[in-house]
This record gives sequence, C-alpha cells and structure tokens, in this order.
Amino acid sequence: MSIPDVTELTLEEKASLTSGASFWYTKPVERVGVPAIMVTDGPHGLRKQREGGDHLGIGDSVPATCFPPAVGLGSSWDVDLIHRVGEALGTETSIENVGVLLGPGINIKRSPLCGRNFEYFSEDPIVSGVLGAAIVKGIQSKGVGTSLKHFAANNQENDRMRASSDVDPRPLREIYLRGFQRVVEDAQPWTVMCSYNRINGVYASEDPWLLTHVLRDEWGYEGLVVSDWGAVNERVPGLAAGMDLEMPSSGGVTDAQIVAAVKDGTLDESVVDVAAGRVLDLVRKTTEGAGSVAGPLDVDAHHALAREAAGRSIVLLKNEGGVLPLARDARVAVIGEFAASPRYQGAGSSMINPTRLDNALDEIRALATGDVSYAQGFSNVLSVSDDDAEGLRAEAVVAAEAAEVVVLFLGLPARLESEGYDREDIDLPAAQLELLDAVLAANPNTVVVLSNGGVVALPFAGRVPAILEGWLLGQAGGGATADVLFGEVNPSAKLTETIPVRLEDTPAYLDFPGEFSHVRYGEGLFVGYRWYDARRMDVAFPFGHGLSYTSFEYGDAAASVSASGDVEVTVAVTNTGDRAGREVVQVYTGLASSQVQRAPRELKAFASIALEPGETQAVTLTVRRQDLAYWDIRADRWVVEGGSYTVSVGASSRDLRTSVDVAVEGDAFTLPLTRSSSMGEVLRHPVAGPIVQSMIAQAMGGMADSAASIMPEGVDMSKMMDSFPIGRIGMMASLAGDGAGASPEMIDGLISMANAGGVPAQA
Ligand code: BGC
Repeated sequence: MSIPDVTELTLEEKASLTSGASFWYTKPVERVGVPAIMVTDGPHGLRKQREGGDHLGIGDSVPATCFPPAVGLGSSWDVDLIHRVGEALGTETSIENVGVLLGPGINIKRSPLCGRNFEYFSEDPIVSGVLGAAIVKGIQSKGVGTSLKHFAANNQENDRMRASSDVDPRPLREIYLRGFQRVVEDAQPWTVMCSYNRINGVYASEDPWLLTHVLRDEWGYEGLVVSDWGAVNERVPGLAAGMDLEMPSSGGVTDAQIVAAVKDGTLDESVVDVAAGRVLDLVRKTTEGAGSVAGPLDVDAHHALAREAAGRSIVLLKNEGGVLPLARDARVAVIGEFAASPRYQGAGSSMINPTRLDNALDEIRALATGDVSYAQGFSNVLSVSDDDAEGLRAEAVVAAEAAEVVVLFLGLPARLESEGYDREDIDLPAAQLELLDAVLAANPNTVVVLSNGGVVALPFAGRVPAILEGWLLGQAGGGATADVLFGEVNPSAKLTETIPVRLEDTPAYLDFPGEFSHVRYGEGLFVGYRWYDARRMDVAFPFGHGLSYTSFEYGDAAASVSASGDVEVTVAVTNTGDRAGREVVQVYTGLASSQVQRAPRELKAFASIALEPGETQAVTLTVRRQDLAYWDIRADRWVVEGGSYTVSVGASSRDLRTSVDVAVEGDAFTLPLTRSSSMGEVLRHPVAGPIVQSMIAQAMGGMADSAASIMPEGVDMSKMMDSFPIGRIGMMASLAGDGAGASPEMIDGLISMANAGGVPAQA
C-alpha cells in the first residue's frame, strides 16, 4: 500500500492526522488511502486491549509475555540480552498488528520515592541511554516502532500533569537529557513521547526548545513526537513547538483549533504540513514493516527468554559464608507470601496480562531433591488483624526451626508503588520486619529474597548472611529465582541504582516532590552515586554492586585516546573461581583539575562478559569523547575540558580495581571577552593576556604601597585582582594617578582585537 504525500491532503485532513481517533488508534484518511495505525503499551510486554474493550484503554488485554520490567532487566547491564528481549517484544507487537510499542521509559531515578521507578533503568544517564538504545534497536528490528518516553525530566508521579521540574542547565543536559540524546542518536526511535510535566515552567508538550531545538536541531531526530496520553495543554502552540501527534483522541476539538488558526493567520500551514507529514511517515514505516514477522507467537520460547532475562536481573547483594547456592538436597523452609503469589510487575499503564506465571515456591520444589516446606509468614492484605499476623509468624517460626536453610521472601505489596503516585517511604512493611526478626532468631541461616520495584531500606543487611534483590522479574521470575538459589544460574546482575542507608540520605530528599507545582532539582548534578561519592557518605549497597558465585580478578587497565578522540580502555579480567560466570566491567572517569563542578567519578562505559573458570579475557571499552563533556552554561554548548583524566575500572562504583591516567586534549574553545570578563579570564586569554599583564603592572605600581597598609603580609594581590572586571580597570588606574594607561577606549579596543584575532585557547 502506498501512503500519499502530505501535499495530496486538504487542510482539514492534515489537521485530522495530528490527533488520535480513539485511545489507541491514529485517524485514517480514507479518501486517499491512509490507514489508521495502532499504538499501545509497553514497555516490558504488549498491553493490547482486547477487541470491544472499554473506551479508556484500561480493559482486559490480550495475553503477552511479561518480561522483567526495566528495573530488573536493566540490572543485567547486558546490551545483547536486552537487544534480544527487544526483538521478542517487537515480534509480539508485529504479530498483534500493532504499529508502535509505547516504550522504553528511560527517565532518571532521581529519588527512590518515584512511584514509577520500576519502569526506568537507572540513576545514571549512560546506563539508561545505552540500554534504552539496545531495546529500541531490538524492537525496531522487527518492523515496528518504539516510543522513547517520557521526554523529559519526568522524575516523579506526584502532580505529574502540572508540576514544573525546575532544573539548572547542567544537570538538565548532563543527567536528565543525556540518556535521551544517546538513544535518539544511536537508535532513532520511530516516536518520542513528550511527558506531562513542565520543564522550567514550560509544558514539555509545547516547548519549542525541547521538541525542536534540542531534539531535532541538535540531536538530529527524524521521527515523530507523540504526546503522553492527555499531556496536551494548548494544542496550537504545541503543534508549532514540534508536538506532532496528540494522543488519545481530542474528539476533533483540537483539529478544529488547528484549522481555525491557519485560517485566521495565527498558524502557518507549513507547520501542519510538517506534523501531518511525520504522521504519514510513521504510517508508511508501520505498513511497510507490517507482516514482517509470522505468527503465531511461540509462547514457550518467549517464556524461556523471560526466564533467562529474569535470572540475569537478580542481584546477589550479599553472600556471607557461601550460603548460596543451596544444595539441591537441603531441607528448605520457604517463607513469605511473595513466594507463592509473586509480585512480578508494577501497576499502571505497563501492566501486562502474562501468557503464564511462574511462582518461586513451585519452581524451588521442582529443582529441589530435599524437603521444601512453606509458610505464608505475613499477609499483603491491608486488613489483617494482629492475631492473624501473630499466627502467620508463629507458623513461619516452626517452619524455620525445622529447616537447614530458610529462604524468606520479603517485598513491597503492590499497592505501595504504581504509576500515578509516589511512595512515602522506602521501608518494608513493619510486619515483614517483625517476621524477619522472628525467623532469624529461629534460624540464622536465612536467605532474604526481595520483590520490589523501587529501592527499599535494608536495616537488617548486617544480620542476614545472604540477600538476593529480585526487583520485579516478569512472568518467569519464579523459575529464575529458583535457578539462582540452586546455582543453575550464576548471578551476574548489578545495581543500576544506589541502595541508601536511609531515605534522609538521598540526594533529592529535601526537594521531593516539591510544592505548589514546582520541584526544584536542588541536588543539581549530584544524582545517585554522584551524591554519595561527593559527600563521602556510607550507602547500604553502592551503584554497580552485585556478587557472583565465582570471583573475578582485574589486571592493570590501560587507556589511550584513539584517532576519533574517544578513550579506549583495555583491561584483562580473569574468572578465578570454579564455576562459569559473568562480570559487568565498569569504567568510571574523574577529572581532579576540572574548572567546573563534577562528581568524583562518573560511569562512562561498561560491558557484560562471560568467563569460564580460569579464563582470562582482555576487554576493550570505549569512552566516547562526547561523554567526557560538560555543558558550558556560558557558551550554551558541550565542552570537553583538557587534562589528565583518571580512568578507574572495577566491579562497582566502590570496588574499583585498577586505575590509569590519560591525557585528553580539550576542545578548542575561547569565550569572547567583554567588559565584564574578569582579570583572571583576560589574563588566561592568549592574545589579551600578555598585553593586560603589563597594564596591570603599571596600574598596580602606584597602589602597591597603599595596599600594603591594609593587607596582611604575604598576601598575593594578583589573587584579589583575579575576579576584577576588566571594564573597571580604568577606574583603578585613574585612582592610582595613572589613568592614561587604561582608558575605556583602550579596553574596548583590546577586547575587540582579542575577539577578532584570538588564537583559540585550550578549554
Ligand atoms: C503513561 C504512558 C503510557 C500512556 C498510554 C500514560 O498515562 O504515562 O507511559 O504509555 O499512558 O497508556
């Protein structure tokens, strides 16, 4: 089917394409053969509403494989695995004749309280961007589209449809936009979904800076911008800003506004042409891609992939005395409701109707050869009475006493985290902590398995020998948990977010969720580990942490700058244990001599590698030059500072095994001088510097004696003068009785000479 060009459409037809027909469909233009296409959630499975469902898009959906949500999958740090999951998602999307899967979500986990953190990858932009690009490429390889969401700075659910994320330019660029930039540049998602919130006072859905200047002009985005569902505030300015497709339907109201604006001359018709043209492009890509995958869905194969992915998502936080893996014939007490009724995904628009659902208890029993008992331990029902809670605890204690080892499933009840609202604390329910104490007293040989979409505090971490952070693992999480417990799978996942000691320690604690619809990102650049490291704070488990049943040794890292300017880092990693395993090798950089505020170290590259026992592999990781850049607020551009960067390589942000310095040449970058330029800046300028040096000597000569009378001995006057604006030096010179050397005209002359002929300085 050939999709017509936008020039063949009337104004009304073009306007009609810029909003949805219903909750999930775009509008057709039958006269010229433009079909409607379906878009649907996303992200970790297909949530396609059944035919004849309700009009709000929340009815029953067709069964689909529920892969681990981003909180789990991201913990694998494995680009290839995530690409394969993406392919499977694309396959299911295609089989169901859906054109676009609404994901991935790559917002930064700014606070552990965000109710939707389970849908996001990390507190770090490189992790979010690299993994986001991998899943987009995987999905789109099957001829269907993705929607990179929620663009941008949508880091909380509270007041999400109005709140303004008030973020300074550096954190906005370096933390909140960097991941989006990576995905756009590397993977060109077919659509980008703008978020509900405002950014520095402007709705994302009508922000020309965000949707056109940054997204298209700077990053070269070629696809379509779709609104989050109901994110449109004012449609006509939104269209002009670059918000192409409003979803869901506006009932034709906003289409009519667009037509009226063109007719009364307030909107140029070319703006409508561009947006409608992008909708047509999307329809064209979708129709071309349709049918590229033959059904029916191989439910078993996708379930197996979901199990593999879930096994790779489980983080072994602690394993004292090698409690894990369990012996097959161990006498095990499985305790905790989540073992029998798993929490495997979060609530809200991403909720998938799984094709099947494993639970850990059955799967443990399937692998075990010894006796496996079960006690519920606690109830997730709100109204459970004290007596009932006591009874459940007592039963659990009996089971624990009789067992060699206890596997205790704790976690967050579903009601505590969801799209649409945030959490109020990071604590596990009190009844579960009481249960833990009782079980530990009965049997200290206890392994805790956690099910939670957002980080929880682990005040008991010092008292239990082993902890598995199981996040939310999708439909096959039960089997994967059993695989890891018995060592069928050697855990290799790592934390993509810090587990803090207390909520009060977290970077956004004092600025979350804001007030009166404004949230000030007061922690600036210091999000996640950047904060804890800069402040040298203790954490429960650091970013990047995750253990294995084997051990890895790192050789000495080497780093060099390649012809393209990227930094190539090489390190040999050896599996020194006796079983095969995977290690996530992490590269961090720091620049102690930086002229701007920076975290002590920032993740810049990583790789997940598989090693047989005794095997050594030389791993090469590329730190892109662009990722060394900071956003310079004076010049409004990225700048790579020159200097000696420390490249640290290791197994977590706080388990760095080897480091090496590498000299990086800075960007050629000279700020134009003005009358407000400080003496220090002028002195560092290659042209103006030497000239001003002699002017100062003259001007200061007369002042030296008088200055000496008010300054302590040994003070270096040039330090004081460093921040003195050059435009005012004439005043100082005339006070010193020697004005002739620095008239305003001379200073202006010096400035224009320097700006015109300045030899570029190193940044
Ligand atoms: C969510 C999006 C989702 C959309 C459609 C919105 O409320 O924020 O992530 O894709 O609904 O369900």
